[in-house]
Amino acid sequence: MDYADQQIPVFTALNDVFGGLVPSLANIERWNGLAEEFERRYGRKPSYIARAPGRVNLIGEHIDYSLFGVLPAAVEPDILIACGTHGEESCTVVVDNLHPKYDRKIFEPATTSVSKPTISGDAAHTEEWHLDINKKELRWESYVKAGYYGVLERFFPAATTLSSGANQGPVPVDLLVTGAVPAGSGLSSSAAMVVASTLAFLAVNGKLDPSNVDKITKGELVQMSMENEKRVGVNSGGMDQAASVMSDPASALYISFYPELKASPVPLPHGVVFVCANSLVVSDKAVSAKRCYNLRVVETLVAARVLARSLNVPLGAEERVTLREVVGRSVGEDIQGGKVLSADALAEALQSIAKKLDVLRSRDGAAVAAGRSGVTLEEMIEMSGLQRDVFQKVYLSWIEVEATEFELYKRTKHVLLEALRVLQFRQICLDASTAADSAGTGDMGVYQKKLGKLMNESQESCAELFECSCPELDQLTKLARSAGAFGSRLTGAGWGGCTVSIVAEDEVDGFIAKIKEEYPPYKGLEDGALKEAIFATRPGRGACVLKL
Ligand code: GLA
Repeated sequence: MDYADQQIPVFTALNDVFGGLVPSLANIERWNGLAEEFERRYGRKPSYIARAPGRVNLIGEHIDYSLFGVLPAAVEPDILIACGTHGEESCTVVVDNLHPKYDRKIFEPATTSVSKPTISGDAAHTEEWHLDINKKELRWESYVKAGYYGVLERFFPAATTLSSGANQGPVPVDLLVTGAVPAGSGLSSSAAMVVASTLAFLAVNGKLDPSNVDKITKGELVQMSMENEKRVGVNSGGMDQAASVMSDPASALYISFYPELKASPVPLPHGVVFVCANSLVVSDKAVSAKRCYNLRVVETLVAARVLARSLNVPLGAEERVTLREVVGRSVGEDIQGGKVLSADALAEALQSIAKKLDVLRSRDGAAVAAGRSGVTLEEMIEMSGLQRDVFQKVYLSWIEVEATEFELYKRTKHVLLEALRVLQFRQICLDASTAADSAGTGDMGVYQKKLGKLMNESQESCAELFECSCPELDQLTKLARSAGAFGSRLTGAGWGGCTVSIVAEDEVDGFIAKIKEEYPPYKGLEDGALKEAIFATRPGRGACVLKL
């Protein structure tokens, strides 16, 4: 069974959450402490604790929203949310955070009447939930509200809930949050928050009970959490949510999004560990979205249309096609007819199309003479072949971006070659595992080096073509290589946050010590902060709920 089709695990003992007594002992204090603090603050014990881990992406950056596969793994740092219902009639939510920086928030879902045009041209009025998420400012409770939205929409459609009376509606909820995934670190604290919040609201409303016939699968939880996170203002792909929900201990995950969400384990070669190191540059996707993340989403989508036209790929008049779809269609992939490209065929198509990207460069004489490839908005509209108003509607009406030039060529070159690197990385891991089964784990060096090389190429491409690195990330990855890593790259959205390095298992302590000594922002950090900033990680398990 694919991970996406599995049920969300609901455990009743901490040993089961961590798969054994020893790891559970290491965590018991934190979980008990959270439950006790919940009781102190709310006057009753919590009913559940929802857990969602952060993730590290080993390779495949900024390609999930073009629907290419990625290769992340869950990390140990996670978000925990203790929750329970309280006796009030209304469906008030009270949310507290163990971190003193975040103060208590109280909110209540309201319904609003929305009118939507119908095919006949008349307006139809429907009721929708409204939770007042502030997209202009980053507020911690926005992620909690975002999680709640999906649960309300999926299980308590506003119109039916209103007409069926209060006892059919969502219950009032108390929540207490604690997070060990540093915000803005590229380890996906935001997805972990949204997944944990979604799970908490599902659990407390009885939607994960064994008796509930309408239970959601891991795949549905991923889809819900993706939609939920968009409500905070970032049009991210599905990698973070998928990794947080579907990870399995001991292996990384190959997550593919097209034609549907799927995840399969990828064994990592013996003798290596992955080390996360935080550049300590805080990168907040939601704050910089219109100049960074969301801009990249628009650039890659418009590029997909321009490329499709040049490759004579069939395209709907107002279709917002993705690069993955264009690559598939260009070699006759037919999803409806059940003809999906194999990994080898996809790799071949990527290699061939990556050589045909000149159509995405500016044709403006001055720009060409100055060696610039970016295009202006005007040029981009013309290249798309769409009328201005249609272009606006398809590409700009739903997302806020700010730019004078759009780098269609560079972004696409990164996406296609990064997608190829993911396929190669996965194959090397599978080959290493087969080799280990037949000849033992004695000589894994060649595989480790190959993986490192792909990671280095990925970093270079993120820095030069996708322009999502920053001087500190460049410096940290360089230091990692000279401290003995086989390879090192930024992980997550970039523009700050963490790097991930592949390091020989028996050299990891020396490696970490060297980086601590040599990366200037680490000087003067206390032990606790340093341990959070740089740590070796092994793939951990995905999100779950503990029923107390
Ligand atoms: C963020 C997004 C992901 C992905 C990465 C970049 O983490 O949430 O969906 O796009 O950036 O690979």
